[in-house]
Amino acid sequence: MTAPRLSVALCVALAFGATGCYQQMALQHKLKPQDPTDFWSDGRSTRPYVEGTVARGSIQEDGWYFTGKVKEAPSSPTTAPVSAEEVLGQYADGFPEPVTESTLKRGRERFNIYCNVCHGQTGAADGTIVMRGFLKPPAFWEQPEDKKAHHSRGLKYQGASDVALNDAPVGYLFHVITHGYGAMGTYSAQIPVADRWAIVAYIKALQETNRKGGVAANTVAAPATEGAR
Ligand code: HEC
Repeated sequence: MTAPRLSVALCVALAFGATGCYQQMALQHKLKPQDPTDFWSDGRSTRPYVEGTVARGSIQEDGWYFTGKVKEAPSSPTTAPVSAEEVLGQYADGFPEPVTESTLKRGRERFNIYCNVCHGQTGAADGTIVMRGFLKPPAFWEQPEDKKAHHSRGLKYQGASDVALNDAPVGYLFHVITHGYGAMGTYSAQIPVADRWAIVAYIKALQETNRKGGVAANTVAAPATEGAR
């Protein structure tokens, strides 16, 4: 047999061999996702997770770091009256990790990407989307023309009225980024936990700067502060 004929014969043999292999693999006994089965009494092939299952890399043991909360939520204002102290007390009043200059720089960068469009570059609730008609959020710091424009709406709804956002626990700010509030959506998918804390630190820097006389905080490097844990 000449060389070309030999290679054709080899190819044919290989092709049949490979197909044979494929068929055996394809015909193995298995259940595809969502297939029904008689094997389990509930008829489902997809089994429920064992209680307490945590996806790899998703264990969140540190409530302060991952939720901004240090206590259980008090009873709902609709079922039982709760005090302002109880409402505020559920949120962490300090940062879970030390805040450094690089945290603030990162926070400023992330704030300008994710929050600026609505809350404005200095947190005065004058972002471009708001200028075009979107619901105006509370400002992050006191506004000369409206003394209540920087009061938290979410905390009021929970039972703590007249809390200026300057005085809201940092854990609450983290909570709002994580879950959103009212017309503002959640940012938990876009912003990782460490960046959320960095943004909160930067908001505190904006508030401090504007509390002390209205310097355009977003244009200067904010001072580093130490973590409070
Ligand atoms: C698309 C516009 C928009 C963006 C972007 C946005 N927010 Fe908001 N935010 C709002 C609006 C509107 C409210 C007020 C919601 C309401 O009263 O229903 C609000 C409220 C808040 C509040 C106050 C909640 C309270 O208790 O009153 C905080 C804090 C806040 N936002 C932080 C942030 C941070 C931090 C970011 C960036 C990660 C961000 N927001 C991005 C629109 C936005």
